[in-house]
Amino acid sequence: MTIRPIRPEDLAALEEIQRLSPETPAWPAESYLKTICLVAVEAEGEFPETVLGFASARQSAPPEAEILNVAVHPAARRRGIARALLAGLLQRLTGEVFLEVRASNLAAIQLYESLQFARVGIRPAYYSHPTEDGVVLRLQAC
Ligand SMILES: CC(C)(COP(=O)(O)OP(=O)(O)OC[C@H]1O[C@@H](n2cnc3c(N)ncnc32)[C@H](O)[C@@H]1OP(=O)(O)O)[C@@H](O)C(=O)NCCC(=O)NCCS
Repeated sequence: MTIRPIRPEDLAALEEIQRLSPETPAWPAESYLKTICLVAVEAEGEFPETVLGFASARQSAPPEAEILNVAVHPAARRRGIARALLAGLLQRLTGEVFLEVRASNLAAIQLYESLQFARVGIRPAYYSHPTEDGVVLRLQAC
């Protein structure tokens, strides 16, 4: 498995991973090209790479950054891919890193807490369909 920056040819695979990940916002895949976005890929011989997951962030008002999204193909989960993607993103970010996650998304909350993100607040009814609180997490990047 390799982590590398996103390329335009990855967009169809990102859309498919978003479709299979209803916990996450389904943004137009092209929008990720304007962010700091890494993909995890697997290459087998001369076959084209398979995109297994992606993570996206932006350096908002420096020294602050925001994780925008992370998702891994359901068939490739629990192999450390999200952790590797987020570690790669964090190397590229400076200052305090924030993110929001649905309060019911325990897998994602556990993932972020395993990377030393700490809960710093709740945004009541931040999400819709269904309405749900957002948990705000923060990490001090390098
Ligand atoms: C959340 C998600 C990105 C995790 O991806 P992943 O590649 O499976 O995660 P990793 O294998 O790197 O797991 C790292 C750690 O996260 C936690 N974790 C991941 N999935 C978990 C689950 N289903 N239940 C509990 N903890 C989980 C564990 O602490 C795990 O470490 P461990 O395997 O050593 O116990 C993936 O489940 C996903 O794509 N979900 C749908 C999209 C989503 O919810 N994105 C978050 C939006 S804010």
